[in-house]
Amino acid sequence: MTDQTTTLDFSDGSPAVTFPILTGTVGPEVIDIRALYGKTGRFTYDPGFLSTASCNSKITFIDGDKGELLYRGYPIEELATRCDFLEVCHLLLYGDLPTPAQNADLQSRVIKHSMVNEQMQFFLRGFRRDAHPMAVMTGLVGALSAFYPDSINLHDAHQRDISAIRLIAKMPTLVAMAYKYSVGQPYMYPRNDQGYAANFMRMMFATPCEDYKPNEVLVRAMDRIFILHADHEQNASTSTVRMCASSGTNPFAAIAAGVACLWGPAHGGANEACLNMLYDIEREGGIAKIGEFIARVKDKNSTVKLMGFGHRVYKNYDPRAKLMRETCHEVLSELGLHDDPLFKLAMALEKIAVEDDYFVSRKLYPNVDYYSGIVQKAIGIPVSLFTAVFALARTVGWIAQLNEMITDPEYRIGRPRQLYSGAARRSVIPLAQRA
Ligand code: ACO
Repeated sequence: MTDQTTTLDFSDGSPAVTFPILTGTVGPEVIDIRALYGKTGRFTYDPGFLSTASCNSKITFIDGDKGELLYRGYPIEELATRCDFLEVCHLLLYGDLPTPAQNADLQSRVIKHSMVNEQMQFFLRGFRRDAHPMAVMTGLVGALSAFYPDSINLHDAHQRDISAIRLIAKMPTLVAMAYKYSVGQPYMYPRNDQGYAANFMRMMFATPCEDYKPNEVLVRAMDRIFILHADHEQNASTSTVRMCASSGTNPFAAIAAGVACLWGPAHGGANEACLNMLYDIEREGGIAKIGEFIARVKDKNSTVKLMGFGHRVYKNYDPRAKLMRETCHEVLSELGLHDDPLFKLAMALEKIAVEDDYFVSRKLYPNVDYYSGIVQKAIGIPVSLFTAVFALARTVGWIAQLNEMITDPEYRIGRPRQLYSGAARRSVIPLAQRA
């Protein structure tokens, strides 16, 4: 809060009203218009929240023009190169990077919660084997509240912490179970002697007949995907989690709402949509057809978008994309895939698009999902599972944001208002008399 204020004048002669201006640590100041309706009887109109700060948060900061992303003040570049995912989880959940003792404690708590109730596998059997993994994940995560009713009180800090650890620990197990179910293979139980990312990859790729030997480069790539997707301020799915939990519902239900929101192709579904776009171009003729594809994207009458490009906040570059691009090349080299036709196509499309005036003038650059899809595909994750991996990584951010909201003294149920433009009050004419 500052002593600064701003005054809103109305051209219709209504009295001017003054509002406080709030200042954050960094970033634009915000005008506190909470009293606007009380003072003027008017609302603000801001569909898509283009100019609205929905909350006060200490977790993540983004400067879209500078291409800067900070978790609790630490630049994403340093976190991605100096920490592992569980250290980042500690940072997001508890406000600071862990000491070695705190790190060991978090690791042991996560390990001890990584198995899911055995009954979960019978629940999973109710799904069709060809169900989309995000449909399955929405159901499984919501169902956790039925399996762990001892930690569903959102207003109890201890229970919230247990459900946070449960969610972070069980998401890899659930995503891997959803995958194994879809391919008809036996589930692989988590192993306590593996790191978080390696354990997930083992549950995905091992079978009871053959163990999985983790490849360090690929495990590091997976861990980096988790770190880069762990939180991203008040994006659509995070705002969904906050809104859902603002009613006091349980944490599992709120995170399931986040999973559902993330599924959309304009959000977390972009990496899957990006790979499907690459497959389509490949089917049409590959690199030779990029020109035609770009022409369709630019055509005002088409709805075709270059998936994995553009971002609501980053208008110069997405710092996560830079890191993921690096990882992408490391993984392709490690696996000897640089000459694979699909990956060559992805790199050719990226090169042409970043130099094209249509994209440059609109400040459309590759976002993290352009590369994370390619990395996951190279690692062997099926395309339809990409968004579930994103949900796994984002779970910690959703929980940190939910905890912050519940403990905020200014917390109230989320209840936006509207500009109503439907019919004015009218009377019902009995059915027989209607023309
Ligand atoms: N391909 C082609 N044109 C695009 C793209 C794209 N990917 N993204 C935006 N544009 C165009 C729009 O048509 C518009 O053009 P116009 O000025 O001629 O009308 C202009 O660029 C501005 O775009 P907006 O839609 O206003 O940008 P907005 O901030 O609302 O949308 C969004 C951002 C949703 C991410 C959009 O860029 C998009 O759909 N990208 C593809 C999907 C994607 O990759 N999403 C992942 C986001 S990152 C994440 O969730 C982790």
